[in-house]
Amino acid sequence: MSDLIIFSKQGSVGVITVNNPPVNALSPGVPEGIADGLKQFAEDAEVKAIVLIGGGRTFIAGADIKEFGKITSGAKRESTLLPVMLAMEDSAKPVVVAIHGTAFGGGLEVAMGGHYRVAVPSALVGQPEVKLGIIPGAAGTQRLPRLAGVELATKMCAFGEPVKADVALAAGILDRIIDGDLLTGAVAFANEMADKGGPYPKPRDRTATGNAAVFAEARATAKKTHRNQAAPLAAIDAVELATTLPFAEGCQREREIFEKCLFSTQSKAMIHSFFGEREVAKIPGIGKDTPVREIKRAAVIGAGTMGGGITMNFVNAGIPVILKESSSEALERGLAIIRKNYSNSVAKGRFSAEVMEQRMALITPQLTYDGFDQVDIITEAAFEGMALKKEIFAAIDGIAKPGCILASNTSTLSIDEIASATSRPADVIGTHYFSPANVMRLLEIVRGAATGSDVIATSMGLAKKLNKVGVLVGNCRGFVGNRMIHCYGREAQFLVEEGATPQQVDAALYQWGMAMGPLAMGDLAGLDVGWRIRKEFKHLEKPGLRVPMVADELCEMGRFGQKTGAGWYLYDDKRKPSPDPVVDDLIGRLTAGAGIARRTISDEEIIERTLYALVNEGARILEEKIALRPVDIDVIYLTGYGFPVYRGGPMFYADTVGLPEVYRRAKEFEAQHGELWEPAPLLKKLAEEGKTFTQWAKEVS
Ligand code: 3HC
Repeated sequence: MSDLIIFSKQGSVGVITVNNPPVNALSPGVPEGIADGLKQFAEDAEVKAIVLIGGGRTFIAGADIKEFGKITSGAKRESTLLPVMLAMEDSAKPVVVAIHGTAFGGGLEVAMGGHYRVAVPSALVGQPEVKLGIIPGAAGTQRLPRLAGVELATKMCAFGEPVKADVALAAGILDRIIDGDLLTGAVAFANEMADKGGPYPKPRDRTATGNAAVFAEARATAKKTHRNQAAPLAAIDAVELATTLPFAEGCQREREIFEKCLFSTQSKAMIHSFFGEREVAKIPGIGKDTPVREIKRAAVIGAGTMGGGITMNFVNAGIPVILKESSSEALERGLAIIRKNYSNSVAKGRFSAEVMEQRMALITPQLTYDGFDQVDIITEAAFEGMALKKEIFAAIDGIAKPGCILASNTSTLSIDEIASATSRPADVIGTHYFSPANVMRLLEIVRGAATGSDVIATSMGLAKKLNKVGVLVGNCRGFVGNRMIHCYGREAQFLVEEGATPQQVDAALYQWGMAMGPLAMGDLAGLDVGWRIRKEFKHLEKPGLRVPMVADELCEMGRFGQKTGAGWYLYDDKRKPSPDPVVDDLIGRLTAGAGIARRTISDEEIIERTLYALVNEGARILEEKIALRPVDIDVIYLTGYGFPVYRGGPMFYADTVGLPEVYRRAKEFEAQHGELWEPAPLLKKLAEEGKTFTQWAKEVS
């Protein structure tokens, strides 16, 4: 018995407890320990049944993802799991698997090796491997369709969403739900089964019946919902094999497909993203013992698109909000949009009308600062203008109680300058939400020079509470996300000026994997936002540097994007875009006036210029320590800008291209387009040393 596995007895039932916190992953030693337990209890004449259970907060949450590198580096090949499951199924004594928390991936696969499965009502079971760019690799695609039928198995393996215990029970994945203590219930069940006597059911002996329509539909869905991703289609193939091949052969083929996926760049990118989302929570100097402030009540200033979305985040988490506007029309409009958003969710069955009313009741709409002295956090979401923000912060400084966090949703402006309008800069922080704020997972948390550690720790905790991924960044114009997107959008517009159509630019980047093309994204976010910001910062622009012409001119024409029915595209009343000859004329006129020669632009150039512009600025951001690590930039782009998860984020993507190649192209663009393309010193250094951003991050950490 190792520390990872504990053996004990409850009467005549042998209990194997997995003890590998925090999530009981199948790290080296765990499968071997389970195998030892099975052997020991098989030989123990006193034992008539066996229970396998997880210690701590969960059953086995899957293979140890950190171990996958050993397979891809060639150090490890054979699955140690498959033999354990066969041993469970072949056990002469009934094996009951007891599930709480999450039986995910290898965890569910192990569970399906048992004769029976029982679970607490809150348990979740799933095969989420596709979220890591792989497929189940320990017979999950072979046993699950045999237990649950191909329809549910295909859905679970191809899309990775878990199912709740009641669904799993109805589908035959579970045999019983245990109300009350899980171990007690599992032991009673094991005794019951032992008393009934064998033979005990072996999932592998069942047959999975094929259903061509299910597979065809799943493939069509996967192509739409998991665009460009290999793993979902591979998972469907593997489940289909369970309907045509004997079990052992199916497992062999599954393993081959699993390994092919595991060696792919897509999988490496998705594993980078999985650990990245957890890494960003780790902030040097702000440990788990940093004190945090309690957030029980909130206020939001501004009921526009952002303020409304931010309000919804708070009330969704059960935190009451005072929502302040400066005019009753704006307040009414904002409230109506919140109600409409909630009604849409009710119509889609996400929650009941009663829940909607409970959430609406948590909002106190008003035109004054009444009650602002009672709240724990005030989030300002007013228009992007420094004078206005300073005025607001000076006002709330005079009202807020001591210890109240004063947060700004600014997307570009200096947190330090905003904080200077208050007498308490340590309490001031940027909490930059992404539109639509009630949907997008990113929360960029901007640390000012004086922001207190407890305010940072509280804001990071708040992000989690609001179901967001908080990423801490430093203070500079645009912070990380928007500072980089400025370069990306700039190149997209230059490409349009040089000869590409808006449709071509958007289509090239969409096909590459972005959730939306940059110009369509501008139309969605509102072109006036950038226009307002450019006006704010005009005095800082270096004279003589090329600036894009078209977007500002579109705004002068009142074309702010979707909200005005026209921007880069024309929108119908269902917001469906179509190309607009007016825009083509405008582009032609402006570029002719500026003497820009128009030429044919390749999709490859569109990809390289926009994405390498992101990477080059990202490298500067790292040099300036505005982002803590390359992975922080990646997570910002994955969770806030629709960057495809299977590309891993801009910095990881650059690593996969190779920094020497990115640098070489940046030098070429510099020769063609001038100093905007000057390579960042860090990019140059790493390219010359043949290193990646990932390697650099490890060296400097
Ligand atoms: N392997 C290694 N580490 C893991 C892990 C895994 N499978 N799952 C979680 N962890 C680590 C996390 O990185 C985190 O580490 P940290 O504290 O150092 O940051 C810690 O465990 C806690 O994880 P979370 O912060 O995510 O904890 P939550 O309670 O929020 O969520 C969870 C728990 C739902 C289990 C979530 O961690 C999760 O979804 N994990 C991944 C599950 C998964 O993908 N399983 C399939 C793996 S692939 C597989 O099994 C292949 C098989 O078919 C052969």
